[in-house]
Amino acid sequence: MKDYKIAPSILSADFSRLGEDVEKVINSGADIIHFDVMDNHYVPNLTFGPMVCSALRDYGITSPIDVHLMIKPVDRIIPDFAKAGADYITFHPEASDHIDRTIGLIKEHDCKAGIVLNPATPLSYLEHCLNKLDMVLLMSVNPGFPGQKFIEGTYNKISLVRELIDKTGKDIRLEVDGGINLENIAKVASAGADTFVAGSSIFNSKDYEKTIKSMRDLLSQVS
Ligand code: DX5
Ligand code: ZN
Repeated sequence: MKDYKIAPSILSADFSRLGEDVEKVINSGADIIHFDVMDNHYVPNLTFGPMVCSALRDYGITSPIDVHLMIKPVDRIIPDFAKAGADYITFHPEASDHIDRTIGLIKEHDCKAGIVLNPATPLSYLEHCLNKLDMVLLMSVNPGFPGQKFIEGTYNKISLVRELIDKTGKDIRLEVDGGINLENIAKVASAGADTFVAGSSIFNSKDYEKTIKSMRDLLSQVS
Protein backbone atom coordinates (compact mmCIF):
# COMPACT_ATOMS: atom_id res chain seq x y z
CA MET A 1 0.00 0.00 0.00
CA LYS A 2 1.12 3.55 -0.76
CA ASP A 3 2.07 5.91 2.04
CA TYR A 4 -1.38 7.47 2.25
CA LYS A 5 -1.92 10.43 4.59
CA ILE A 6 -5.21 11.71 5.95
CA ALA A 7 -5.25 15.45 6.63
CA PRO A 8 -8.36 16.75 8.42
CA SER A 9 -9.08 20.40 7.63
CA ILE A 10 -9.64 22.30 10.85
CA LEU A 11 -12.01 24.61 8.99
CA SER A 12 -14.76 22.30 10.23
CA ALA A 13 -13.37 21.86 13.76
CA ASP A 14 -14.96 23.39 16.84
CA PHE A 15 -13.21 26.81 17.02
CA SER A 16 -14.42 27.40 20.58
CA ARG A 17 -12.19 24.53 21.77
CA LEU A 18 -9.76 24.19 18.89
CA GLY A 19 -6.77 22.68 20.71
CA GLU A 20 -8.90 19.96 22.24
CA ASP A 21 -10.65 19.14 18.96
CA VAL A 22 -7.37 18.99 17.00
CA GLU A 23 -5.85 16.75 19.67
CA LYS A 24 -8.92 14.52 19.43
CA VAL A 25 -8.66 14.15 15.66
CA ILE A 26 -4.94 13.29 15.94
CA ASN A 27 -5.64 10.71 18.64
CA SER A 28 -8.28 9.33 16.27
CA GLY A 29 -5.63 8.56 13.66
CA ALA A 30 -5.12 11.70 11.55
CA ASP A 31 -1.64 12.11 10.04
CA ILE A 32 -1.47 15.81 9.16
CA ILE A 33 -3.43 18.90 10.24
CA HIS A 34 -4.66 20.92 7.26
CA PHE A 35 -4.77 24.61 8.20
CA ASP A 36 -6.91 26.73 5.83
CA VAL A 37 -5.92 30.41 5.81
CA MET A 38 -8.44 32.73 4.12
CA ASP A 39 -8.27 36.51 3.77
CA ASN A 40 -11.64 37.74 2.44
CA HIS A 41 -9.74 39.02 -0.60
CA TYR A 42 -8.25 36.12 -2.55
CA VAL A 43 -11.22 34.03 -1.37
CA PRO A 44 -14.57 35.26 -0.05
CA ASN A 45 -14.10 34.07 3.52
CA LEU A 46 -11.95 34.85 6.53
CA THR A 47 -10.34 32.37 8.92
CA PHE A 48 -7.17 32.38 11.03
CA GLY A 49 -3.48 33.25 10.84
CA PRO A 50 -0.07 32.44 12.33
CA MET A 51 -1.11 33.22 15.91
CA VAL A 52 -3.61 30.37 15.84
CA CYS A 53 -0.99 28.02 14.37
CA SER A 54 1.38 29.02 17.14
CA ALA A 55 -1.35 28.50 19.74
CA LEU A 56 -1.86 24.92 18.51
CA ARG A 57 1.87 24.26 18.90
CA ASP A 58 1.81 25.79 22.39
CA TYR A 59 -1.16 23.57 23.24
CA GLY A 60 1.06 20.59 22.45
CA ILE A 61 0.12 19.62 18.89
CA THR A 62 3.22 18.00 17.39
CA SER A 63 1.79 16.50 14.17
CA PRO A 64 2.77 18.06 10.84
CA ILE A 65 0.77 21.20 10.05
CA ASP A 66 -0.04 21.78 6.39
CA VAL A 67 -0.75 25.50 5.93
CA HIS A 68 -2.92 26.18 2.87
CA LEU A 69 -2.65 29.89 2.08
CA MET A 70 -5.70 31.28 0.30
CA ILE A 71 -4.37 34.82 0.58
CA LYS A 72 -3.03 37.58 -1.62
CA PRO A 73 -0.30 38.81 -1.41
CA VAL A 74 1.47 35.69 -0.18
CA ASP A 75 5.11 36.45 0.70
CA ARG A 76 4.79 38.82 3.68
CA ILE A 77 3.23 36.20 5.94
CA ILE A 78 5.44 33.19 5.08
CA PRO A 79 8.17 33.84 7.69
CA ASP A 80 5.44 34.26 10.32
CA PHE A 81 3.94 30.86 9.54
CA ALA A 82 7.37 29.22 9.55
CA LYS A 83 7.97 30.70 13.00
CA ALA A 84 4.50 29.60 14.11
CA GLY A 85 5.37 25.95 13.44
CA ALA A 86 4.15 25.20 9.91
CA ASP A 87 5.66 22.14 8.18
CA TYR A 88 4.14 22.55 4.73
CA ILE A 89 3.22 25.92 3.24
CA THR A 90 1.19 25.84 0.03
CA PHE A 91 0.01 28.82 -2.01
CA HIS A 92 -2.03 29.59 -5.11
CA PRO A 93 0.26 30.69 -7.97
CA GLU A 94 -2.28 33.26 -9.19
CA ALA A 95 -1.84 35.01 -5.85
CA SER A 96 1.94 35.42 -6.19
CA ASP A 97 3.67 37.79 -8.60
CA HIS A 98 6.91 35.77 -8.41
CA ILE A 99 6.18 32.09 -8.01
CA ASP A 100 9.80 30.94 -7.93
CA ARG A 101 10.64 33.57 -5.33
CA THR A 102 7.74 32.47 -3.13
CA ILE A 103 8.85 28.82 -3.33
CA GLY A 104 12.39 29.91 -2.41
CA LEU A 105 11.12 31.95 0.51
CA ILE A 106 9.22 28.98 1.94
CA LYS A 107 12.30 26.76 1.64
CA GLU A 108 14.65 29.36 3.11
CA HIS A 109 12.46 29.19 6.18
CA ASP A 110 12.89 25.40 6.36
CA CYS A 111 9.35 24.55 5.38
CA LYS A 112 8.16 22.25 2.63
CA ALA A 113 6.71 24.10 -0.34
CA GLY A 114 3.62 23.36 -2.39
CA ILE A 115 1.58 24.91 -5.17
CA VAL A 116 -2.22 24.77 -5.14
CA LEU A 117 -4.19 24.56 -8.37
CA ASN A 118 -7.85 25.59 -8.42
CA PRO A 119 -10.28 23.47 -10.45
CA ALA A 120 -9.79 25.58 -13.60
CA THR A 121 -6.13 26.51 -13.07
CA PRO A 122 -3.96 24.87 -15.74
CA LEU A 123 -1.20 22.38 -15.00
CA SER A 124 1.20 24.56 -17.00
CA TYR A 125 1.94 26.38 -13.74
CA LEU A 126 3.94 23.30 -12.70
CA GLU A 127 6.12 23.23 -15.79
CA HIS A 128 9.09 25.20 -14.49
CA CYS A 129 8.84 24.56 -10.77
CA LEU A 130 7.68 20.99 -10.12
CA ASN A 131 11.25 19.85 -9.37
CA LYS A 132 11.47 22.34 -6.53
CA LEU A 133 8.18 21.37 -4.89
CA ASP A 134 7.45 19.02 -2.00
CA MET A 135 3.72 18.97 -2.66
CA VAL A 136 1.13 19.68 -5.33
CA LEU A 137 -2.32 20.41 -3.96
CA LEU A 138 -5.24 20.01 -6.33
CA MET A 139 -8.46 21.74 -5.34
CA SER A 140 -11.51 19.58 -5.98
CA VAL A 141 -13.82 22.50 -5.03
CA ASN A 142 -13.49 26.23 -5.51
CA PRO A 143 -11.64 27.48 -2.43
CA GLY A 144 -13.42 29.40 0.31
CA PHE A 145 -15.87 27.14 2.09
CA PRO A 146 -16.11 23.72 3.70
CA GLY A 147 -18.77 21.18 2.82
CA GLN A 148 -18.85 21.66 -0.96
CA LYS A 149 -19.38 18.93 -3.54
CA PHE A 150 -16.34 17.25 -5.10
CA ILE A 151 -15.88 18.37 -8.73
CA GLU A 152 -15.74 15.22 -10.89
CA GLY A 153 -13.30 16.68 -13.43
CA THR A 154 -10.62 16.51 -10.73
CA TYR A 155 -10.03 12.77 -11.26
CA ASN A 156 -8.49 13.33 -14.68
CA LYS A 157 -6.36 16.18 -13.37
CA ILE A 158 -5.09 13.98 -10.52
CA SER A 159 -3.96 11.30 -13.01
CA LEU A 160 -2.15 13.89 -15.13
CA VAL A 161 -0.29 15.33 -12.13
CA ARG A 162 0.55 11.81 -10.92
CA GLU A 163 2.28 11.16 -14.26
CA LEU A 164 4.20 14.44 -14.06
CA ILE A 165 5.34 13.70 -10.49
CA ASP A 166 6.39 10.15 -11.33
CA LYS A 167 8.49 11.47 -14.21
CA THR A 168 10.49 13.65 -11.84
CA GLY A 169 11.38 10.61 -9.70
CA LYS A 170 11.11 12.88 -6.67
CA ASP A 171 9.24 12.53 -3.43
CA ILE A 172 6.45 15.04 -4.08
CA ARG A 173 3.13 14.56 -2.33
CA LEU A 174 -0.08 14.82 -4.34
CA GLU A 175 -2.78 16.21 -2.09
CA VAL A 176 -6.44 16.69 -2.99
CA ASP A 177 -8.69 19.11 -1.12
CA GLY A 178 -12.46 19.55 -1.09
CA GLY A 179 -15.49 17.31 -0.82
CA ILE A 180 -13.57 14.12 0.08
CA ASN A 181 -15.63 11.54 1.95
CA LEU A 182 -16.12 7.80 2.39
CA GLU A 183 -17.87 7.56 -0.97
CA ASN A 184 -15.04 8.97 -3.09
CA ILE A 185 -11.73 8.61 -1.20
CA ALA A 186 -10.83 5.30 -2.87
CA LYS A 187 -11.48 6.74 -6.32
CA VAL A 188 -9.34 9.81 -5.49
CA ALA A 189 -6.54 7.44 -4.44
CA SER A 190 -6.93 5.27 -7.55
CA ALA A 191 -6.52 8.36 -9.70
CA GLY A 192 -3.12 8.92 -8.05
CA ALA A 193 -3.50 11.07 -4.92
CA ASP A 194 -1.62 10.14 -1.75
CA THR A 195 -2.74 12.86 0.69
CA PHE A 196 -6.41 13.50 1.42
CA VAL A 197 -7.81 16.66 2.99
CA ALA A 198 -11.15 15.99 4.64
CA GLY A 199 -12.91 18.64 6.69
CA SER A 200 -16.62 18.18 7.09
CA SER A 201 -16.62 14.43 6.48
CA ILE A 202 -14.41 13.93 9.56
CA PHE A 203 -15.29 16.82 11.89
CA ASN A 204 -19.03 16.55 11.24
CA SER A 205 -19.00 12.83 11.92
CA LYS A 206 -19.95 11.58 15.38
CA ASP A 207 -16.96 9.29 15.73
CA TYR A 208 -13.71 10.65 14.22
CA GLU A 209 -11.85 7.42 14.88
CA LYS A 210 -14.45 5.31 13.12
CA THR A 211 -14.51 7.67 10.10
CA ILE A 212 -10.71 7.78 9.77
CA LYS A 213 -10.48 4.01 10.18
CA SER A 214 -13.12 3.53 7.48
CA MET A 215 -11.12 5.84 5.20
CA ARG A 216 -7.97 3.78 5.83
CA ASP A 217 -9.82 0.51 5.18
CA LEU A 218 -11.02 1.88 1.84
CA LEU A 219 -7.49 3.08 1.00
CA SER A 220 -6.03 -0.32 1.89
CA GLN A 221 -8.14 -1.86 -0.87
CA VAL A 222 -6.78 0.47 -3.56
CA SER A 223 -4.32 -1.42 -5.75
C1 DX5 B 1 -11.70 24.92 0.91
C2 DX5 B 1 -10.61 24.43 1.84
C3 DX5 B 1 -10.74 22.99 2.18
C4 DX5 B 1 -12.07 22.60 2.70
C5 DX5 B 1 -12.17 21.16 2.99
O1 DX5 B 1 -11.44 26.22 0.54
O2 DX5 B 1 -9.35 24.64 1.28
O3 DX5 B 1 -9.67 22.56 2.98
O4 DX5 B 1 -12.45 23.35 3.77
O5 DX5 B 1 -13.41 20.94 3.55
P1 DX5 B 1 -14.38 19.80 3.06
O6 DX5 B 1 -13.65 18.52 3.26
O7 DX5 B 1 -15.56 19.96 3.93
O8 DX5 B 1 -14.68 20.06 1.60
ZN1 ZN C 1 -7.54 23.60 2.14
